Amino acid sequence: MYALDQSVTWKKLEQLAEKTKDDRIADYFTANPARFDKMSLRLGELFLDYSKNKISDEVFAALLQLAEHSSLRQRRAQMFSGDIINATEKRPVLHVALRNRGDEAIVVNGQDVMPDIRAGLKKLETFSNQVRDGKWLGYTGKRIRHIINIGIGGSDLGPNMVCRALLNYKHPELSMHFISNVDGQHIKKVLKSLDPETSLFIVSTKTFSTQETLLNANSAKRWFLQETGCVEADIGQHFVAVSTNKAAAMEFGIRQDSIFEFWAWVGGRYSLWSSIGLPIALSIGYDRFIELLEGAYEMDRHFLEAPLDKNMPVIMALIGIWYTNFLGAETQAVIPYDQAMHQFPSFLQQLDMESNGKSVDMEGKPVSYDTGPIVWGQTGSNGQHAFFQLLHQGTRFIPIDFIASLKTDETAEEHHFALLTNMLAQANAFMNGDVSEGQQGYASCPGNRPSNVLLMDELSPRNLGALIALYEHKVFVQGTIWNINSFDQWGVQLGKRLATEISRSIERKSTDYDESTQGLMAIVKQHMSK
Ligand code: F6P
Repeated sequence: MYALDQSVTWKKLEQLAEKTKDDRIADYFTANPARFDKMSLRLGELFLDYSKNKISDEVFAALLQLAEHSSLRQRRAQMFSGDIINATEKRPVLHVALRNRGDEAIVVNGQDVMPDIRAGLKKLETFSNQVRDGKWLGYTGKRIRHIINIGIGGSDLGPNMVCRALLNYKHPELSMHFISNVDGQHIKKVLKSLDPETSLFIVSTKTFSTQETLLNANSAKRWFLQETGCVEADIGQHFVAVSTNKAAAMEFGIRQDSIFEFWAWVGGRYSLWSSIGLPIALSIGYDRFIELLEGAYEMDRHFLEAPLDKNMPVIMALIGIWYTNFLGAETQAVIPYDQAMHQFPSFLQQLDMESNGKSVDMEGKPVSYDTGPIVWGQTGSNGQHAFFQLLHQGTRFIPIDFIASLKTDETAEEHHFALLTNMLAQANAFMNGDVSEGQQGYASCPGNRPSNVLLMDELSPRNLGALIALYEHKVFVQGTIWNINSFDQWGVQLGKRLATEISRSIERKSTDYDESTQGLMAIVKQHMSK
């Protein structure tokens, strides 16, 4: 049986980690003044500088060998052609089909899925245009002004992050709201700001069985009926659904023609390209939504066609593997120097950690090496005044991805200049540190801390689409090399099941649980019945 960490290339990388442990990144630049040109890459309006990594030429070559010797090419081809690569759920993984802007067929179970995808997009176009143009009216004949997405996980994070990132493109007469948490204070706060006559709720749930979303959707419906005096049959103009479970959505009271469907082969955390993107199309308009898909499609083609040593997702994945498996990094920081992208780290947390937070391989055996890192971060320059101290002088080794867009509107140029120069200063400081003579120990910064810099010409739908697809494929490449299934999430299912069980058994004194859980259940029960 093939064991990744027993392979010749893995062993070689272990030796190289030892051999290069005292290398300084800055010295790589002295040795090769062309390093920046060599270790940077442009795709359209996206530019990746990966030269400030602790990676020598020899290490880079060995990492490429690791990719070459893995099943990457085969699994990449399988993903794009609709093979069942999500083995535990027996499904293809086809978010790439959703943004396929070419005319190639993608066949699942002997059927081309592209006609259904195009029909789904058409429906999205018609509906989003109606709402945006003020032609979709509420029950009193008023135009819609509030869009409220009710969903959680992939049915929230993707559309939520994109709508916020592209706020500059938002329809001026629509306000966007996202309700995800089962905490009643979340929905209460949002509902307080709404006028029911002009509100449109999107119940967004792939399965239509997620407890949090159903509770929130039912509370929203109750609120709407109470506020308006309408009867259930009248909610049609104010509630639509995005789901693969049409029957359950209709049972909830959504009209059949107001259900935006998608398919089991779209994973929750990869679903913003499907009808789950409805809030995006409503906010920025259908044409802009298509630009988002086009940006992702461009990245898909690049991922498929570029040689591995010039392939952005492959390079970023290999750099991550080097740090995780050979240099002992446990986390990956992601710092967008862009306030509009403040939700990007949260989105990436689900994308990366739900995908690669696995310790069993494709054959069902425990892995003997580390897999997905802990992903975290927040916007710069805010982070500089919070956790950057630890990044500069702490004991941990934390690779960083900096992300920024170059263009801003002319009223904010002075701020934008400060923002970008702060980012450049930080990336420089992390690499070079400050160990100058005379520097007191407490003030000295060791440097030699690696980073990638990703620059977009501007934060446009197209560039954001490419950026998201870049990270999706990076996660896929890492999962493939680690030989894990990046497309299931059985750990999450356990929590869901137990929450249901505990809520049922809290009434009777159950001995099915450990002492601590029983004790806490008793306290909660006592409190709830006060
Ligand atoms: O978090 C687990 C998960 O299954 C995600 O994968 C999914 O995005 C989320 O729950 C929400 O599920 P649904 O869209 O079915 O409500």
